[in-house]
Amino acid sequence: MHRIIKEKLPRHIAVIMDGNGRWARKNMLKRVMGHKKGADAVRTVVETCRKLGVQYLTLFAFSVENWQRPEDEVRALNILLEEYLMKELQEMKDTGIRLITIGDTDKLPKTVRDALLSVIEETSENRGMVLNLALSYGGRDEIISAVKRVLKDSKSRDIDENTITKDFFSRYLYTADMPDPDLLIRTGGECRLSNFLLWQLSYTELYFTDILWPEFSRDDLIDAIMDYQQRERRFGLISDQLSKD
Ligand code: IPE
Ligand code: IPE
Ligand code: MG
Repeated sequence: MHRIIKEKLPRHIAVIMDGNGRWARKNMLKRVMGHKKGADAVRTVVETCRKLGVQYLTLFAFSVENWQRPEDEVRALNILLEEYLMKELQEMKDTGIRLITIGDTDKLPKTVRDALLSVIEETSENRGMVLNLALSYGGRDEIISAVKRVLKDSKSRDIDENTITKDFFSRYLYTADMPDPDLLIRTGGECRLSNFLLWQLSYTELYFTDILWPEFSRDDLIDAIMDYQQRERRFGLISDQLSKD
């Protein structure tokens, strides 16, 4: 049993899944084994969020900076991703999960791209939770690519400086059709964003935990959500101005 308040459930949870390498080292295993065990934690968190009724779950699986890791680690991560997609497709179909991605996925190996395309296609009609994987994702890259697309569109559309509002610009980000995250969880003990969702996290509640990602459990997720539910989101106002429900 848990004491999550249904009415105050975060609509969108984002997670920086960190600490796989340190978990492996702690258990005297190769780093790749940490990533493998991390995939089990992904399953747990996806299932728990779906059962709770979270609408959007964004998982930071691979950053643009992560391409600079040793080649064999990058290769292993790609293989694990492909395996995850193949294993989880049926479950996603059965439970109504829709898969989408953000990031420069063109950089991924063709086999992974093909696997992604087919899961995205096969789950596109699902109306349950949206599972959003951030792959080859970088927040600054996302903003720059949005600016470039605005410029490109300005050649064929009437766009001037008054057109460029926050809402207008948001539509050019990878997350165009998603609400901003309400809660960001980072495991692994680091208190930084590592170039994740820089624009979208402006008013997100941040939750940092020392737990290493492969050990992050259903109960840990519930703790994070309960912590979030204790917070007062003021968005720059004072308490008295907020409608209490
Ligand atoms: C997170 O775990 C997974 C990815 C970045 C792909 P790490 O591999 O960063 O684990 P640590 O930070 O070295 O422990
Ligand atoms: C962030 O973790 C990226 C992912 C979890 C995919 P990193 O381990 O790459 O971040 P830094 O290097 O510690 O900032
Ligand atoms: Mg790390």
